[in-house]
Amino acid sequence: MHNLAVGVVGGGGHVGLVQAAGLASLGYYTIAYDLNAAWIKELQKGNVPFYEPGLAELVQSGLKSKLLEFTNKIERLKKVDLAYICTGTPSLPGGRAELLQVENAATAIARTVQKRVVIAVKSTVPVGTARRLSRMLGQLHLSEKAVLVSNPEFLSEGSAVNDFWHPSRIIIGAADPEAAEMVAGIYAPPQVPVIKTSWENAELIKYGSNAFLALRISFVNLLARLCEKSGGDIRVVSKGMGFDPRIGPSYLEAGVGFSGPCLEKDLRSLISQFQDAGEEAPLLEAALYINQRQRHLVVSKLKESLGDLKGKKIAVLGLAFKPGTDDLRDTHTLPVIEQLVFAGAEVTVHDPMLTLISWPRQMSAFLPDLRWASSPYEAAEGKDALLILTAWPEYRDLDPAKLKSCLANPLVVDGRNLFEPAAMAAQGIDYLGVGIGTEAGR
Ligand SMILES: NC(=O)c1ccc[n+]([C@@H]2O[C@H](COP(=O)([O-])OP(=O)(O)OC[C@H]3O[C@@H](n4cnc5c(N)ncnc54)[C@H](O)[C@@H]3O)[C@@H](O)[C@H]2O)c1
Repeated sequence: MHNLAVGVVGGGGHVGLVQAAGLASLGYYTIAYDLNAAWIKELQKGNVPFYEPGLAELVQSGLKSKLLEFTNKIERLKKVDLAYICTGTPSLPGGRAELLQVENAATAIARTVQKRVVIAVKSTVPVGTARRLSRMLGQLHLSEKAVLVSNPEFLSEGSAVNDFWHPSRIIIGAADPEAAEMVAGIYAPPQVPVIKTSWENAELIKYGSNAFLALRISFVNLLARLCEKSGGDIRVVSKGMGFDPRIGPSYLEAGVGFSGPCLEKDLRSLISQFQDAGEEAPLLEAALYINQRQRHLVVSKLKESLGDLKGKKIAVLGLAFKPGTDDLRDTHTLPVIEQLVFAGAEVTVHDPMLTLISWPRQMSAFLPDLRWASSPYEAAEGKDALLILTAWPEYRDLDPAKLKSCLANPLVVDGRNLFEPAAMAAQGIDYLGVGIGTEAGR
């Protein structure tokens, strides 16, 4: 066991819980503090309130070792040496990141601790935030109690536990070298680059990374349009591009676009940071525009084939923003489903991780008229079309012949390019992927 005590504020959330359980398994006494009392109660019993592969096991072993504590009482943090802030930074209506949770967390930690604490901000915050928080703590006469470090998080939901153990890099922005050293010393596997830099650079590395990933996806989706018009096949085009070592293969898949709690939110926030700096960001605006357009294109494809959607029965496969999670925050699937419902379609949904039981908890009264299916085939039964929105591996394994026999009208619009068009055509399915031109699709 290490002799540092660690606090994680927002320790019940997607980032904080992985951080807290991971640190406990490294031997740090870790206190995960969260305002969500219901989640804390479940976590104290070893129940993880959302799906993340491998996380329940990590939490349960942390509880068993007695190195992991869950609490909704801030006083429990009074003796920690290091406190991570992992609270949310949701988008405000104009795209700016809402920083209230982070500000409250920083103030609460500094007010609670009995000795000087290092506060490491893992939340994604706009450039200038750490400097501003530091100034804010000074104005509250709390700067003697707390020193700020920017330590952005790069995990991806669905592979978060693996990402904790195998980070691509560790970024530490600090004005105080000792504090930077402390954060770097917590966990830095050999071979993993550690960059110690300024607050501003650390904050910009996070936004630059996420915006760049978003740009790649939008670029490929843009190229996908030309493929559709010209008889090309974006799957082959992006594969060919990805072999270039200067480009690489990841984030080059065409489809219905990116979504979820990070890429779109961070892109919007970065655009607003440019605006606040008096600068334009047309490249980022275009990426956002293309991404929004992808959501309309899949619905347009349904309309082109079916005509008016009023009264049409559509099966939707996938609700989570990506496979491996049950997270619905800012998912692309809901705006697409909304378009279908508003056009008068009767929508039946399936998702391997989300059920009618979890739906009301997550989405309250949103789209109450949705129907639920317990399997993809059940969803397809008697429908006028099937629309695929999330690339769950089990959808890839669906049998085209069985799908055809379930559907009343054999139309599949695939927003994730999971199938071989020729195999679908061989079964008599009218298959429309993204970026697959007519010649390529034959
Ligand atoms: N989810 C991801 O994949 C991911 C990846 C990298 C970075 N991030 C960033 O990490 C941050 C957290 O994201 P998340 O997805 O874990 O959010 P989340 O909503 O899952 O978790 C945030 C948690 O903070 C708690 N909280 C809010 N204010 C609090 C306070 N004052 N005191 C104690 N607890 C408080 C909430 O109850 C919630 O459980 C965001 O800035 C996000 O952009 C997220």
